[in-house]
Amino acid sequence: MMAIAPYFCALLQASGLRERRITNMFHPLGTEAATEYQIALFTFAITGTIFVIVSGLLFYTIWRFRHRPSRSGEEPPQVYGSNQIEIAWTFIPLLGVFVLIGVTARYIFTLQDASLPRNAEHVRIVGHQWWWEVHYGDYGVVTANEIHIPVSNGAGYPVVLQLESADVIHSFWVPQLSGKTDLIPARANTMWIDAHEPGIYLGNCAEYCGTQHANMLLRVFAEPKRDFDQWVAAQRAPANADAGSSARTIFESLSCVNCHTIRGTSANGVFGPDLTHLMSRTTIAAGMITNTHENLRRWVNDPQVMKPGCLMPSMKLTDQELNGVVTYLETLR
Ligand code: CUA
Repeated sequence: MMAIAPYFCALLQASGLRERRITNMFHPLGTEAATEYQIALFTFAITGTIFVIVSGLLFYTIWRFRHRPSRSGEEPPQVYGSNQIEIAWTFIPLLGVFVLIGVTARYIFTLQDASLPRNAEHVRIVGHQWWWEVHYGDYGVVTANEIHIPVSNGAGYPVVLQLESADVIHSFWVPQLSGKTDLIPARANTMWIDAHEPGIYLGNCAEYCGTQHANMLLRVFAEPKRDFDQWVAAQRAPANADAGSSARTIFESLSCVNCHTIRGTSANGVFGPDLTHLMSRTTIAAGMITNTHENLRRWVNDPQVMKPGCLMPSMKLTDQELNGVVTYLETLR
């Protein structure tokens, strides 16, 4: 199992959702993951049977025809080919291969053809070095690294994901919900996910994409539809403008605004994560660290200490500027 546990030790009480600490694909909690788990078991059954038969025959032969001193010198009967045996060991494995191909293809087409109900949510995800940009186009909401979805609970709220990349190839993988799908530059891949139980599902970029690939983490918050709707409403609201406050003035005077967007302010950069409702997220730095005052301050002061190589430089802020930026960011509820 993937052991990315160290990063997930801090619990996220505020959300009230249980964080599922293990990214265990053998404990699927989504329709796609469950289907893939069934194929995996079926494949394992077939290949396991072959393994037992072949190794059984091998060990039997080793034992049966072992060297016996009493008959040393005597040559065993020599066999030069047998049509029956050769036909058998060609066609039986071929049959196994075709059964596996057929079953796998059937599952793939079933999943891809799944007719999604009208109420499916649509989310566009753009992979960046090294974070996830998340668009809810239907609501005009943009967020990062933490994806909220309504839990399906048999009521059928699948979420259709459109996966794109801004730079190199990444791969979306939340093991308890589904298999991997790549995010490829200049191309849009689609997949759908659903979560059968509420909770915070952990995921990670699953395609090596550069120095901080391992710290490109994902969280999927599956919550009851009512809570999801509330979350959407809160995200749609404009940012706390706090116009005229000295903290905001300091923030807007710095080059932070060239890379980050805060809706309703002069910050409208698109290279880094949208910060409009930064404080509604439980983590920062693409899921690496919890969103606490100390972490946020350390992060803004010098991201290169926590995440070397990340594309946010140290801004060499004075203490007064750092205080202003952090104070303003913490108003973005
Ligand atoms: Cu993105 Cu690995």
